[in-house]
Amino acid sequence: MIGKDIGKAAVLLEAGELVAMPTETVYGLAGNALDEMMVMKIFAVKNRPSFDPLIVHVPDLEHLKKYVKTIPEKAIVLIEKGMPGPLTLLLPKKDIIPDIVTSGLDTVAIRIPGHPMAQELLRSIDFPLAAPSANPFGYISPTSAQHVEQQLGHKIPYILDGGECKVGVESTIVGFEGEEAIIYRKGGTSVEMIESWIGPVRMLPHSTSQPQAPGMLKSHYAPKIPLEIFTEQLPQELPQTYAVLSFSDSFPATVLEVLSPDKNMEEAARNLFAAMRRLDTSGVEKIYAQLLPEEGLGRAVNDRLRRAAG
Ligand code: TXA
Ligand code: MG
Repeated sequence: MIGKDIGKAAVLLEAGELVAMPTETVYGLAGNALDEMMVMKIFAVKNRPSFDPLIVHVPDLEHLKKYVKTIPEKAIVLIEKGMPGPLTLLLPKKDIIPDIVTSGLDTVAIRIPGHPMAQELLRSIDFPLAAPSANPFGYISPTSAQHVEQQLGHKIPYILDGGECKVGVESTIVGFEGEEAIIYRKGGTSVEMIESWIGPVRMLPHSTSQPQAPGMLKSHYAPKIPLEIFTEQLPQELPQTYAVLSFSDSFPATVLEVLSPDKNMEEAARNLFAAMRRLDTSGVEKIYAQLLPEEGLGRAVNDRLRRAAG
């Protein structure tokens, strides 16, 4: 069931149910992060392997401090500048966070979402919410309540509808090694923005944020129809029916999705997942997706496209 009743979502969560919640990045499948049973339920509903840890959501810095042992100086700056917002930090976890949340790692991924409904929901309960993106494992992330309904609607009692996600790609994940900040996943906060706040960062080559199983999550965000990436021109040989997902240009195609006619990276990121879903039900034989310029949110979009191509 889809609705806008935050009180109802809170009651369900307190009663040990899972609820889908809007965030500014993508919709999350939320449950009590301090309750192992709820966390197990999240893995089961998503069909997610237990070696892939979850993000814990809190309303503010005060709450964040309850769940992490220490906060490096650069993390403090990132919290001040980038939170609430599309940013997640990997910080040493306190024992109160169950091991199942972090897949046994001693860091917890923690985030302060900016969406007003997520904020209100988190403030109306007295536990943090573990919430992965609310899609079956490996499929395209949901950016509307309807996307969640289509795939998980029969498995959860309530989907809190906060409209279409304003950012449209997942949060940027930043971890720390000594004095160094490391980007584990490119996302809604651009690398340029982060470097303007804390100086140079190291970027992991593949945006797989699972250190125990590097490479295993390379195929992700994947539509069911095969997807191939291109930069400027379509390949010479094309199937009879095909779709083109382009940044700003027009191409001859059976179905065409243009992410941002004005070449705006934020707009492209916001439209990406909904466009991929539409193409996935368009009935074509193949999808050709054009890479964006490798800057700003273009990096996050390109990362999703490369992983969708597998
Ligand atoms: O924008 C977002 O981050 C959304 C919304 C719902 O908050 N959530 C999201 O969650 O994208 P999920 O589960 O789809 O992606 C979380 C990523 C996974 O790739 C996981 O491997 C990584 O975070 N992760 C979680 N804890 C980690 C840790 N301790 N060390 C390294 N990576 C971690
Ligand atoms: Mg996900």
